[in-house]
Amino acid sequence: KNLAVFVSGGGSNFRALRQATLKGDVNGSFVVLVTNKHDCGGAHYARENGIPVLIYPSTKGEPKGLSSNDLVDALRSELIVICILGFSLVLTVLIASVMLCSKYKIDFILLAGYLKVIPSELIQAYPNSILNIHPSLLPAFGGKGYYGTKVHKAVIASGARRYSGPTVHFVDENYDTGRILAQRIVPVLANDTVEELAARVLRQEHKMYAEVVAAVCEERVIWREDGVPIIQSKA
Ligand code: GRF
Repeated sequence: KNLAVFVSGGGSNFRALRQATLKGDVNGSFVVLVTNKHDCGGAHYARENGIPVLIYPSTKGEPKGLSSNDLVDALRSELIVICILGFSLVLTVLIASVMLCSKYKIDFILLAGYLKVIPSELIQAYPNSILNIHPSLLPAFGGKGYYGTKVHKAVIASGARRYSGPTVHFVDENYDTGRILAQRIVPVLANDTVEELAARVLRQEHKMYAEVVAAVCEERVIWREDGVPIIQSKA
């Protein structure tokens, strides 16, 4: 399967997922990265590994990004214009302009620390094909204000929590509200710092996201009649 990843930060989940594709644990390949921060760690890693980087959306201080419609088109197909220039003694002549269509043909979109909302054009173009990972047991500690270490800070501040852990869910037009596909329990220990809890959850994120993406790529997700997605174990 052709995978696109959306990243705004360091991209440790993206790196773990890519390693899983290279090891053959995930039957897919990353063909493009989309970011709103062209110099984030995830984008650097993509460029270092020959994965094209697209900017979306246009944000202050960033190179001009794609529009929502152009993003959808780009994920479906990439237009490459090759201009072959020829020279004569008197003037420069455009000899030929060849347009080639090289398709990204993205099957699944994986959000991995992408901090912007996904445009409805993309959600409609990719029904049940966009996943996100969130570092809490949704619906607890999810939504617009809950990102990065804020999630873990809130879990610890809530006091009585014994458990936290990552959630992988399908993406809809709001933050962290789509159908939950998988969750994993991680203990919250007495006197945990935000950093300790974040690191413990992140270790599980790396394992869980790869397992879930492997199942999605192998088409092992079935939809129960009440609309809940279930991962079938390997035959
Ligand atoms: C992860 O905690 C993920 O759950 C959340 O953003 C963080 C991204 O971390 N959505 P990284 O950039 O993959 O290291």
